[in-house]
Amino acid sequence: MSPSPESNALETVQIFDTTLRDGEQAPGFSMTPGEKLRLARELEELGADVIEAGFPIASEGDFEGVTAVVQACRRATVAALARALEGDVRRAGDALRGAARPRIHTFIATSDIHLQYKLKKSRAQVLADVYSAVRLAREYADDVEFSAEDATRTDLDYLAEVLNAAIEAGATTLNVPDTVGFCVPSEYAALITGLKSRIRDADKVVLSVHCHNDLGLAVANTLAAVAAGARQVECAINGIGERAGNAALEEIVMALAVRRDTLPYQTNIRTERLYPVSQMLAGITGVQVQPNKAVVGANAFAHEAGIHQDGMLKSPLTYEIMTPQSVGIERTQLVLGKHSGRHALAQRLAALGVQLDRRELDGVYKRFLTVADRKKVINDADLRELIETAEPAAVGGGERA
Ligand code: KIV
Ligand code: ZN
Repeated sequence: MSPSPESNALETVQIFDTTLRDGEQAPGFSMTPGEKLRLARELEELGADVIEAGFPIASEGDFEGVTAVVQACRRATVAALARALEGDVRRAGDALRGAARPRIHTFIATSDIHLQYKLKKSRAQVLADVYSAVRLAREYADDVEFSAEDATRTDLDYLAEVLNAAIEAGATTLNVPDTVGFCVPSEYAALITGLKSRIRDADKVVLSVHCHNDLGLAVANTLAAVAAGARQVECAINGIGERAGNAALEEIVMALAVRRDTLPYQTNIRTERLYPVSQMLAGITGVQVQPNKAVVGANAFAHEAGIHQDGMLKSPLTYEIMTPQSVGIERTQLVLGKHSGRHALAQRLAALGVQLDRRELDGVYKRFLTVADRKKVINDADLRELIETAEPAAVGGGERA
């Protein structure tokens, strides 16, 4: 499902991938510079518009990771994260040296909770930090993103003041993160709408969103924000990221692709590469994708229940809203287990070269259910054994496949 000619008229939502930064910050997901490089190449092939490669001030390894990605990725914008501090911004600028499309992404928290307990700064001090960090970042790159950390728990008037200061200092993208995954979709959409009317020259900057999944709402919030006017979404492969993770890139992209009727936007993502990149990430980190994960989980295109299998054999439209091939998965799987029906069993046996009439199938199906009650999944070897040990009458007078 690559961008099609008829989608030319649609507005494009930029995909900002933060797998290598927010994603790798999560416990168990850290990556070496070499691993980041492999994944960044794949992300560029996938069609990510922006690849956030790391947080250069954090460690030597992170700095190296960013420089490696900068050398390898010449089409995608490469972003480096920096707190709104002089040392951070300069380090990010240094790591991005030589980049084809460099972006400095600078941030500071803006909610009173963070100001009081974490930063111990006044609103006025934070406002001044935003202005000077963005100004300095512009000395290194024309493309500067500012994020108001914990934006969704920030006083709206103050948030608008901060974002206006960032624009005045030269920011080109303004990010409104739901840092702690606190919002519900209607609230987040209202926040984006409210900010659009309060930001000066809102049409000259890109509004961006970055959602965490603490309440399982990251993708829903992201989509609500897109409908309200956000044109960059920050997300990570397999939804990895701090705590419960970031919004999952593959889920956002496929929601936009499948529900274009209600969300008329396109992305530059080659959706057929979603599964390969998801598998590459799992291979690099050693953390497998949960089987019921939307779009890329092992069960995303697997059907076990008899009614579903029967429907799928009659038409895939009955139980699949996208094809497995559209996300890079070879085929639908009809899994044989205790919930399966005769239709799927007969189809699998036929694929193994065993043709049964109705009476024979009934006999084999009975024996199949006995085995399925003991075993979670019946594979081809189990089926062969079932046929080979069957009474001759049960399988067409002793004929073997
Ligand atoms: O969650 C967050 O607020 C962040 C910012 C640095 C964008 O990751
Ligand atoms: Zn985050």
